[in-house]
Amino acid sequence: MEVRINDTYEEMSAAAAEFVIRQLRHKPNSVIGLAAGGTPCLLYQLLGDACAAGEVDFAQVRTFSLDEYIGLGADHPQSYRYFMEKRLFSRVNLAAAHIAAPDGMAADIAAECARYGAAIEAAGGIDLMILGIGPNAHIGFNEPGPCFVPDTHVVELSEATRTANARFFARPEDTPHWAISMGVRDIMLAQNILLLSSGAGKTEALYQAVCGDITPEAPASVLQLHRNALVLADRAAASRLPEKYV
Ligand code: PGA
Repeated sequence: MEVRINDTYEEMSAAAAEFVIRQLRHKPNSVIGLAAGGTPCLLYQLLGDACAAGEVDFAQVRTFSLDEYIGLGADHPQSYRYFMEKRLFSRVNLAAAHIAAPDGMAADIAAECARYGAAIEAAGGIDLMILGIGPNAHIGFNEPGPCFVPDTHVVELSEATRTANARFFARPEDTPHWAISMGVRDIMLAQNILLLSSGAGKTEALYQAVCGDITPEAPASVLQLHRNALVLADRAAASRLPEKYV
């Protein structure tokens, strides 16, 4: 695991955009895994800007969203599919057929999880997985618990996650209780992982991810075992990391 600290959220996002653009230039038909959430918003904006400026080409890129709320359809403003559409897909030349996301409205959610995991595998796996980190150190919706769940699965969201995400909903009680998430194996099989962490609310989670024991109680800690995991953090998120990182 490599850790790079930037002074600000803006600088971290610019470094992330540079990293993604380098990946797409190196392999124009890359398969990219995409996190939703507040943290990658500027990264996606910068990728949209770069595409408009002709600096990067998404024509051959394929994407897999990391997770989705159960019960919210692609046209629901708080669904992650909608988020990705607004923040990235509508701004780059990505083919509709190259966009994949878990269907939170599927009648048979277990079958949907199996379908999604198989689709990732059929695409040849993920070249670059873009991750955020929850205040409880979750990645995707892999919540702290007694064991790592390997495959795409149904998750009951923790109260910590529902509280953190309530800011996106009109009423806190509207925050879904359930989600579909790629599993830890799905994530760890990615060739490269880019984890973004910004703000004082992530300080403890980032410390656990980088310096803590590798434990499913802090799911992001598993990334310490990945061969090509890059953590980009701003100073606020990195404030508890030991000197060697700062
Ligand atoms: P955030 O969420 O980027 O909105 O902070 C990250 C996450 O929960 O994984």
